[in-house]
Amino acid sequence: MTPHAAAHLFDLHDAVAIVTGASSGLGAEIARTLAGFGARVAVVARRADRLAALAHEIDGLAVTCDLSDLEHIESSIVPPVVETLGSPTILVNAAGNRFTEQQAESEPLDAIRRTLDLNLLAPFQLARAVFPHMRDTGGGAIVNISSISGRVGVPGIPQASYAASKAGLSGLTAELAVQWARHSIRVNTVAPGFFRSEITDDLYDSERGARYLRRNTPLPKEGSAHDIVGAVLWLAADTGSYVTGQTIVVDGGWTAR
Ligand SMILES: NC(=O)c1ccc[n+]([C@@H]2O[C@H](COP(=O)([O-])OP(=O)(O)OC[C@H]3O[C@@H](n4cnc5c(N)ncnc54)[C@H](OP(=O)(O)O)[C@@H]3O)[C@@H](O)[C@H]2O)c1
Repeated sequence: MTPHAAAHLFDLHDAVAIVTGASSGLGAEIARTLAGFGARVAVVARRADRLAALAHEIDGLAVTCDLSDLEHIESSIVPPVVETLGSPTILVNAAGNRFTEQQAESEPLDAIRRTLDLNLLAPFQLARAVFPHMRDTGGGAIVNISSISGRVGVPGIPQASYAASKAGLSGLTAELAVQWARHSIRVNTVAPGFFRSEITDDLYDSERGARYLRRNTPLPKEGSAHDIVGAVLWLAADTGSYVTGQTIVVDGGWTAR
């Protein structure tokens, strides 16, 4: 393949993307990157001011939505995207959070439910909402963002419900990939290790936390959202056209030890 043909595989000028969690961190970087490769991008989260600034920057669409409100995900996100940008061909489910730092035996049931709602059920709901549009336009790519904690236990940072929600994304990914393959809809998950963002700033900024991260990460550099975006782009674009149902770990070697 010529360099020109290879570069063409990343071209997203015909794509319409929805990126959740785009008001900060990884979601914002993914939205910028997809737009940089030509996609029309709708950015989704709760903080309207940040979304408006990003939408202005990338000439996209801001959609303010609380993804924990599962009943309203379909009606509040997909219709404005279809009307303004066109039928979605890429969905990146990057929104996520932890709601408790308790040991598993003490996690409040309400926090467990909130974690599963946001990290697992919301991506499922949104995937179902974009499905008819992707099917009718001949295909699409869905990329979920999970975590290495969906694959391995992480000592010293209790997160049982978070880990369960992220592991659930990998199961959902394989199942949707098989069910929807005949419509040329690819479904994959990227599982990051630790990288600096609003939810991990405190860990990186404390001497103890930074030492813990250095000790457990074979590659000698601090992870950032930039280190994760390449895998998402690869899976969303035609570069990933024969990849579906997979969970790709991007963790500086954390799980290779
Ligand atoms: N940072 C890490 O080390 C790490 C490691 C592994 C996996 N991850 C995963 O990577 C993804 C991105 O995380 P990040 O580190 O970039 O964190 P972040 O900067 O805190 O971003 C989280 C995003 O999710 C959105 N969000 C949270 N609750 C929401 C809700 N109820 N409705 C709509 N949007 C909501 C936030 O926007 P609003 O607050 O504006 O709603 C924000 O845009 C998450 O799924 C996270 O679990 C992160």
